[in-house]
Amino acid sequence: MTATDARQSASTEEATPVLTFEDVVLGFDGVTALNGVSFTVNAGELFAVIGPNGAGKTSIFNVLSGVYRPQQGTVRFGAEDLIGRRPHAIARLGVARTFQNIELFSNLTVLDNLMLGRHLHHPYGVLAAFAWLGKARRNELANRLAVEEIVDFLELAPWRRLPVGLLPYGIQKRVELGRALASEPKLLLLDEPVAGMNLEETEGMARFILDIRDELGLPMVMVEHDMGLVMDLADRIMVIDFGKPIRTGTPREVATDPDVVRAYLGEEHRVTP
Ligand SMILES: Nc1ncnc2c1ncn2[C@@H]1O[C@H](COP(=O)(O)OP(=O)(O)OP(=O)(O)O)[C@@H](O)[C@H]1O
Ligand SMILES: [Mg+2]
Repeated sequence: MTATDARQSASTEEATPVLTFEDVVLGFDGVTALNGVSFTVNAGELFAVIGPNGAGKTSIFNVLSGVYRPQQGTVRFGAEDLIGRRPHAIARLGVARTFQNIELFSNLTVLDNLMLGRHLHHPYGVLAAFAWLGKARRNELANRLAVEEIVDFLELAPWRRLPVGLLPYGIQKRVELGRALASEPKLLLLDEPVAGMNLEETEGMARFILDIRDELGLPMVMVEHDMGLVMDLADRIMVIDFGKPIRTGTPREVATDPDVVRAYLGEEHRVTP
């Protein structure tokens, strides 16, 4: 089944969502970051979350990845309940993320940063690895091969042996995407993947995000302020404001919703039906 087939069958009624986020409430003394947020993500779907600054977009990711524990609600990933699990345990279930502000080891090379994304696959502790050196070496080799595949997929070859801190911003964002892919995730969370990028870098990133959906069939949740990118790429969009969803639907449905236009998009993004 191709990724497109998966998306189409996912949109039929009997499809089981890969991710269910239901009635989530998250507050920090006096501040309500999420005030009853519900959405689902289907197999192979690119689901976008948009909304003004402080609307609660990153908080959704922090709940999903176990950084924050909500006061109320359910979060299910496949058959697993994610609430109460630690970030490491959630990563092991196959949820990977990129960050709004790049979080890489700037003095390590591209290859080494990508290798760090593989460490989830290292089934041995350090001592056990000594005891089973042969096996550990084979693992290391398999990890290196997997990392080289990501280098090819994201066209990172020219920079592979350079420290990440020396690279242009747009390439660093791509390395961060690569590190998330290196863990072989089943769900990818992208927090503002093109923030701060120029037009050329944005178009490059858009192409890689589409390749991830269409070639790898990986479901994604993408938070992004670049409305052109969201409208072009997303299968469905949820608009949130003050921690509450205003509207969830296809790009066209969202762009023509009067409440959304009034609250967020403004006239320039209005689509004539
Ligand atoms: N650790 C925290 N402690 C206190 N308040 C927090 C914390 N994290 C988030 N908030 C608050 O929760 C609200 C939502 O923040 P969040 O970072 O989710 O917004 P966002 O939609 O990602 O915004 P932006 O577009 O600026 O990234 C904001 O009012 C923020 O100040
Ligand atoms: Mg944010």
